[in-house]
Amino acid sequence: MTADPVIETRGVGMRFQGFTALKDVNVRIQPGILTSIIGPNGAGKSTYFNILSGALRPSDGQVLFQGNDITGTPPHRFAHIGIAKSFQITNLFPNFTALENVRIGLQAHVSRYGLWRRRALLQGLTEEATALLETVGLADCAQRPARELAHGQQRALEIAVALAARPRLLLMDEPTAGMSPEETRVMMDLIRKLVGERTVVLVEHKMKMVMSISERLVVLHHGELIAEGTPDDIRGNEMVRRVYLGQGQH
Ligand SMILES: Nc1ncnc2c1ncn2[C@@H]1O[C@H](COP(=O)(O)OP(=O)(O)OP(=O)(O)O)[C@@H](O)[C@H]1O
Ligand SMILES: [Mg+2]
Repeated sequence: MTADPVIETRGVGMRFQGFTALKDVNVRIQPGILTSIIGPNGAGKSTYFNILSGALRPSDGQVLFQGNDITGTPPHRFAHIGIAKSFQITNLFPNFTALENVRIGLQAHVSRYGLWRRRALLQGLTEEATALLETVGLADCAQRPARELAHGQQRALEIAVALAARPRLLLMDEPTAGMSPEETRVMMDLIRKLVGERTVVLVEHKMKMVMSISERLVVLHHGELIAEGTPDDIRGNEMVRRVYLGQGQH
C-alpha cells in the first residue's frame, strides 16, 4: 500500500463536551478502491464520516485531501475540492423529476462557468444528467417525479446528484439503510460500478455486505482504530472478533 492516499487523517480526535468520541485516528484511504468504516454501535463511525465530509471539525489532528490540509474547511467548499457525500436522509426535490434533480445538481456546479448560451448550457446539462441517470440505473425514470420513485431508486438518484459534482472521493453513510434485500443487491452493484474511477468510502452496519464488496476495512471501537486491512485480515483479527461477538452481531 504505497500509493499516495486520497484522504488521510492524522491524529484525529473528537470530543463532545468532554466525551471522547474519537481518539488519535490515523488512517490513509487509498485511491480508486472501496474502503468501509465499520464498528459496533457508538464506535464513532458517523463522527468520523462527518469529519471526512467536513460537517465536523475535529478537536485534534488534521485531515489531508490529496496531500493538502483541509482541516476546518467549510462544508460548502467540499464539493468544489472534489469530495461528495450521500446521506442516510433523502435530500431530493420531491416534486421535480429525476432528471431535473440531477440537472439542478449539475447546475449548482457549473454556474460559475455559466458563460455559454442558455440553450447550449441547458442541453449540455440535460445530456450529462441523462448519462448520470444511466450510470445509476435510472434511465427509465428520468421523467418521473422523485417522490414517485421507490426507496432504493431515490437512494440511487441521490447518488446521481452527488456524482453531479464530479467528485474524486464519494462518501456514503449507510447507503443500504432501510432497503429490501433486492434493493440492497442493486445498490451494492451500483457502488461497485462507481469504484475505480473514484474512491469510495462507506460507513456500514451490514458486515456481510461490507466484507463482500470492500477492498479495505477500517474498524473503530470506542472511538479508536482497532484494526485496518483487507476483509480477510479483518475476518482473522482476534480483537475484531471479540468486539463483534460481544455485541452479538457478525
Ligand atoms: N453531537 C454529539 N454530542 C454528544 N455526543 C455525541 C455526539 N455525536 C456523537 N456522540 C457520541 O459519540 C459516540 C460515537 O457516536 P457515532 O454516532 O459516531 O457512532 P456510530 O459508530 O456512528 O454509531 P451507530 O452504529 O449507532 O451509528 C457515541 O457515544 C455518541 O453518543
Ligand atoms: Mg452512525
